[in-house]
Amino acid sequence: MPDQYGLFINGKWVETQDKANVKNKYTGEVYAEVSKAGEKDVEEAIHSAHHAYKHTDLSPYERYKILNKVSELLQVRKEELAQNITSEAGKPIKQARTEIDRATQTFELAAEEAKRIHGEGVPVEAAPGSENRMAFTLKVPVGVVGAISPFNFPVNLVAHKIAPAIAAGNTVVLKPASATPISSLKLAELFEEAGLPAGFLNVVVGSGSTVGNQMMKDKRINLYTFTGSAEVGLKLKQNTGLNKLILELGNNSPVIVDEEADIDLAAKTLAQKSFAYAGQVCISVQRIYVHDSVMKEFREKLLDAIKDLHVGDPFDDKTDVGPMISEDEAERVEEWIQEAKGQGAEVLFGGQREGALFEPTVLANTDHNMKVVCEELFAPVVTLMSFSNFEECLNEVNNSDYGLQGGIFTKNVDKAFKAARKVEVGGFMINDASQYRVDLMPYGGVKNSGWGKEGPKYSIDEMTEERLIVMNLQN
Ligand code: SIN
Repeated sequence: MPDQYGLFINGKWVETQDKANVKNKYTGEVYAEVSKAGEKDVEEAIHSAHHAYKHTDLSPYERYKILNKVSELLQVRKEELAQNITSEAGKPIKQARTEIDRATQTFELAAEEAKRIHGEGVPVEAAPGSENRMAFTLKVPVGVVGAISPFNFPVNLVAHKIAPAIAAGNTVVLKPASATPISSLKLAELFEEAGLPAGFLNVVVGSGSTVGNQMMKDKRINLYTFTGSAEVGLKLKQNTGLNKLILELGNNSPVIVDEEADIDLAAKTLAQKSFAYAGQVCISVQRIYVHDSVMKEFREKLLDAIKDLHVGDPFDDKTDVGPMISEDEAERVEEWIQEAKGQGAEVLFGGQREGALFEPTVLANTDHNMKVVCEELFAPVVTLMSFSNFEECLNEVNNSDYGLQGGIFTKNVDKAFKAARKVEVGGFMINDASQYRVDLMPYGGVKNSGWGKEGPKYSIDEMTEERLIVMNLQN
């Protein structure tokens, strides 16, 4: 009998008639059954978030205590939560454990930030005629936050939405990804144990076309925070009127391997990082631009390092690359690679699929006209392009609709900083892959990669409004 989960609305667990199966993404076995939210449940969730925001005060110190407690509880239940990520997302267990450690940090950071949300003094007395006035700003919560989270980090990317929202004094309606809802429901259990008052967090499970659409149209939601495709991000933008948005969208991350790079470091780092969680990370390396003069050496070293990766059962401690989220996704990747081969690409390594499992794959002879280069692959596949002129390479790197993170390997400081200035991204890594993130840093992209920043300090900024207070002094 699969484990049963209800929705979490107004501090209560709610069972519905309509259920969804949650499958183990490696074995395909149904291991949990979750209630699906209908229109009435979503209405109830939004109403309770709105009511709690209007009627329950939670001081910054209380918010700190609750978030800190959730951070501690994550460590207490670490193994259970990590095993659940591996089941519902197919993420290799060692990466799932790292995700719980990161989420622990995210909650801890948000807890600390809850104590330092403040405005500033405004020198209105400097304006002629305002000599007798004094002013300052307060940072006030935006109200109800609508959070829509993706499947790829079912705990930590949910943490990045709800922890800063609550730290800032907001209430939340969360719609987790349909493929990975259990992690969010387990997080709700932690909040319940930590003493979060009813209505501050509501979790409604369902599809984007039902639950997501209903949330998108509701005027009581003041800010939407979404991680997912650029297509859905655009839909949110078009349907949410003048509401605030934080959008973390796709990317096709570029990394440059310059002629002055430490080739061993570049090959080893790119082999380790490009295929983590089967490349289903928004900052996964996708486009590698290698200087002509080091291409042969880099290729050999990269392929050697990839051979050491363990591919297969995500529950095995040794596994580096597990299944993709679904067989359909793996089939899509197979089709894109076939199409690229038809356009002249060469498979240097991998390229084979078994169910949802896709081998780490390296493609050469690729160019910007191929989908595998210009669109977001979100798969364990990298493409190699060669360059001889550094300036032209930077132009090619920027020849993308996306701009989340990128990187360069070089020992030449001038080139490193030139690239850092010129490459159009939200974050740029020198002597590392694009796939670097720690949870305190500002994280967010430019172009079609989105708007606004994550990282508790930065999200809190987005999730609060600055309110001006002016005093008219009487004498
Ligand atoms: C993402 O896929 O955008 C999240 C990456 C991360 O948190 O490491």
